[in-house]
Amino acid sequence: MQAVRIHRFGGPEVLKVETIEEPIPTGNEVVIRVLAASVNPADAKMREGKYPAVTDSELPYVLGRDVCGEIANIGDEVSSFLMGDEVFAFLSPENGGYEEFVVAKSSEITMKPKSLDPIDAAAVPLVGITAWQGLFDHGRLRAGQRLIIHGGAGGVGHFAIQLAKASGAWVATTVSGADKEFATSLGADQVIDYKTERFEDIVDPVDVVYDLIGGDTQDRSFQIVKSGGALISTLSEPDGDRAAKQNIRVGRYTAQPNGAQLQKIAELIDAGKIKVVVDSTFDLTQAAKAQETLKNKHVRGKIVLKVLG
Ligand SMILES: NC(=O)c1ccc[n+]([C@@H]2O[C@H](COP(=O)([O-])OP(=O)(O)OC[C@H]3O[C@@H](n4cnc5c(N)ncnc54)[C@H](OP(=O)(O)O)[C@@H]3O)[C@@H](O)[C@H]2O)c1
Repeated sequence: MQAVRIHRFGGPEVLKVETIEEPIPTGNEVVIRVLAASVNPADAKMREGKYPAVTDSELPYVLGRDVCGEIANIGDEVSSFLMGDEVFAFLSPENGGYEEFVVAKSSEITMKPKSLDPIDAAAVPLVGITAWQGLFDHGRLRAGQRLIIHGGAGGVGHFAIQLAKASGAWVATTVSGADKEFATSLGADQVIDYKTERFEDIVDPVDVVYDLIGGDTQDRSFQIVKSGGALISTLSEPDGDRAAKQNIRVGRYTAQPNGAQLQKIAELIDAGKIKVVVDSTFDLTQAAKAQETLKNKHVRGKIVLKVLG
């Protein structure tokens, strides 16, 4: 089968399209025949050797964190899935999605939403679960609360806006000017152009800040969190001393695969409460170009690789 692997860390040139052995599942694993795999910022961080879970001892390494496909082989302890089931998954770091057949744990996979084709479905798992865990597990967001999402037009952000709205929260978001209408169409109540406006001057205090940007954006966010509120980041740990003085909860987390949460997200998609936005698609062999596009071009929603199918 074809796979896109790295043998050393570095720029896009280290991605190699290679022929390798098809994996065989054991125990509670399945093998998914991959129809589509999504591209996330984490893939480039792994490629560069800047992601803690992927070190020299993992090389050669297949990149890619989430896929949609059909079950092509089943381990002897798996009873909940059948051959040919159309599934999608956020994979554990030991398995990469930029390949034609990938191993996944049965606890990571769930049936793909019926309303989505494989390309759109592959766009969902990592960003959907990241947004779910950030808003609800770490942010403890509840109906009626006020939230701001920094980076609302990206992969995680466009999901977070819709999940938060579906949960009954009031949502502000920062995006670039060209994405203002897009963020409004996803349900955002207040949309701020991060390039021309300062959110801390125009957004009333919020219960939860969901930070997908870090740096100065995270620092300035302290000004708008209510006492008793939370500032949760996917990127860097917010200042704990400042948080204690302001009586707010802060945290930085790494999203974890979770088939049960993915199932709830699939239900929201099939109920028409969340739409998935794919910016562009590339063939598996163009994985390097896809990663460069995500890094350097303005991307709205997700980039997806077409694999088999
Ligand atoms: N910890 C975890 O488990 C985890 C999981 C998923 C993602 N992440 C991280 O979270 C971040 C977001 O992920 P993603 O997949 O959503 O990335 P993405 O698809 O690249 O989206 C990033 C978005 O942020 C916007 N942006 C850039 N600077 C901004 C600013 N100062 N204020 C507001 N928006 C700004 C970009 O818009 P423009 O193109 O217009 O600049 C883009 O729409 C990445 O750094 C990623 O590595 C972490």
